[in-house]
Amino acid sequence: MERDSNEHLARDGAAAIVTIGVVGAGTMGGGIAQVAARAGLDVVLIDQSESWLDRGLVAITADLERLVTKERITDERRDQILARIEGSTRIEHLAACDLVIEAVNESLPTKIEVFTSVSDIVAPEVILVSNTSSISITALAGSVANPERVAGMHFFNPVPVMKLVEVIRGLQSSDETVATVMALAERIDKTPVQVADAPGFVANRLLLPMINEAIFCLSEGVATAEDIDRVMRLGASHPMGPLALADLIGLDVCLGILEVLHGEFGDKYRPAPMLRQMVAAGRLGRKSGAGFHDHGGG
Ligand code: 3HC
Repeated sequence: MERDSNEHLARDGAAAIVTIGVVGAGTMGGGIAQVAARAGLDVVLIDQSESWLDRGLVAITADLERLVTKERITDERRDQILARIEGSTRIEHLAACDLVIEAVNESLPTKIEVFTSVSDIVAPEVILVSNTSSISITALAGSVANPERVAGMHFFNPVPVMKLVEVIRGLQSSDETVATVMALAERIDKTPVQVADAPGFVANRLLLPMINEAIFCLSEGVATAEDIDRVMRLGASHPMGPLALADLIGLDVCLGILEVLHGEFGDKYRPAPMLRQMVAAGRLGRKSGAGFHDHGGG
């Protein structure tokens, strides 16, 4: 009975959301803005840098253009989706949002800064969501008034394609907040799975040690990068091998997550020295043009 009424509240809560704010117009923030707009939500997309904002909007437009070329959507539908996304470099533009998702750099101080600025602007009951891949939702919630309105939505790259959203319940997240966020994930055509606020949640706690071990295999000369990836594609039916996946995620992001996991769980998550070297050398994967594989950028 209690559960039913919570589910109703949540559905009503998610249905009442008309406009969401997304802070950070990078790969994840742009992807989230795109899927939300496709689901009929109005989106205010914020980035502090004009050039990052433009890059984000260009990437969204290119993704939609691809769908037009494939005749999955019409020109008119593309224009409708784009018209629902308002880009801005001014965080004040979030004032009328019904829910805000931050997707900025994976750094606790940066995320806390965003959460405190946003909470000064939006109404006190507005749900604040983090797309963190490894930072504690409970720690983030502690930085704002009404921490019960904070939860995590961990999206996966590429956001328009990957169905999963891990919904993270912080220590103080209310039932209503979690249920509303679960319902919102469904509304934007994702499949939510609720997880506790533990380091790396579930997906990254499992994915990152596999990627790290693949890097150890490479550095120990067990096989070439191509063959390590081939083994997991053909032997475990993964859509892409672990080193290609690391290149997609970004090697700096992989290292950051492993450092959090290493700090919490100890030696089994120790980042491979080769990963540290690659990051130090600026070989960050697809975004820098080269990682474990060449992506046409040197
Ligand atoms: N944006 C939008 N659509 C994209 C896309 C992108 N960046 N990349 C691929 N697609 C679409 C393609 O248009 C294509 O659509 P269609 O089937 O409707 O025509 C479809 O996805 C398949 O793409 P491709 O045919 O080009 O290539 P693949 O079949 O090899 O699929 C892939 C590419 C979807 C990336 C697939 O290889 C895959 O699923 N890889 C694993 C990705 C993964 O594990 N992601 C999670 C990373 S972990 C994470 O994000 C958490 C973070 O915290 C680290």
